[in-house]
Amino acid sequence: MPEFTGKTVLITGGGSGIGLATARRVIAGAGQVVLAGRNADRLAMAAKDLDAGGRVLTVPTDVSRPDQLDDLAARVRDRFGSLQGVVANAGEGLNAATADVTEDDFDRIVGTNFKGVFFTVQRSLPLLTEGAGVVLVSSWLAHRGMATGSLYAATKAAVANLAQTLAPDLAQRGVRVNTVTPGHIRTEMFDAMTGNDQVREFFRSQVPLGRLGDPADIADAVAYLLSPASAYVSGQELVVDGGLVRSVPA
Ligand SMILES: NC(=O)c1ccc[n+]([C@@H]2O[C@H](COP(=O)([O-])OP(=O)(O)OC[C@H]3O[C@@H](n4cnc5c(N)ncnc54)[C@H](OP(=O)(O)O)[C@@H]3O)[C@@H](O)[C@H]2O)c1
Repeated sequence: MPEFTGKTVLITGGGSGIGLATARRVIAGAGQVVLAGRNADRLAMAAKDLDAGGRVLTVPTDVSRPDQLDDLAARVRDRFGSLQGVVANAGEGLNAATADVTEDDFDRIVGTNFKGVFFTVQRSLPLLTEGAGVVLVSSWLAHRGMATGSLYAATKAAVANLAQTLAPDLAQRGVRVNTVTPGHIRTEMFDAMTGNDQVREFFRSQVPLGRLGDPADIADAVAYLLSPASAYVSGQELVVDGGLVRSVPA
């Protein structure tokens, strides 16, 4: 039986990149998805792309706004009743020297990448059923310092730490919590943060496996952590990076 039969998974940032690839993976496994993101047009295009009819619900949501997360939870309850998975994937990048980071940058990046993740999980709690999986999305930058990454990296380190504590907290409800940590994955965010092909080629050259990641590489890891195959895995971080974080290229 396909692994997501009868299951509904909420994916924030589900309209593009890693989130959309994860939605594709859940749909392929016969599940249902709720896609949340700020841009309604982007969500509508993603739903069209998934072509799964009533198995896709899109809810325009800014994850940095807990009131909007409450509305999202209400829409999910009305449509599907409960959740068997949450993927707190929405994130925003910032490539800036510390001296150039403004207070607005700080509030925006922390608002989406940390506050947003925290409240996405908190406001989903009433909907999560026994055996549900929660996956938070961190970044390789939580493990390696990069000169222009101070603010973004710190939010991603916070996310990984959060999973460690949420795991025993939510274990009481039979819910597992894990982190997936992507390396260099070819998405809109990666293209924006790297800027040009020369920088992208440098990033690729740092990956021992010799290629940039595809969003589907991350989706497969998320699917594993949501599925019964990982029933005894909680509080873990799964780094999916072609070897980037733990090694140097030959
Ligand atoms: N690509 C990489 O190399 C890489 C590496 C490490 C970690 N990551 C992490 O992977 C996750 C997915 O990123 P991606 O690479 O797939 O990039 P992406 O395609 O740009 O996806 C980011 C998604 O987050 C949504 N989003 C941003 N701010 C939001 C907010 N306040 N509320 C709701 N949704 C919001 C965006 O949709 P809207 O603009 O419509 O809201 C977009 O769909 C992020 O958390 C990112 O930090 C990516």
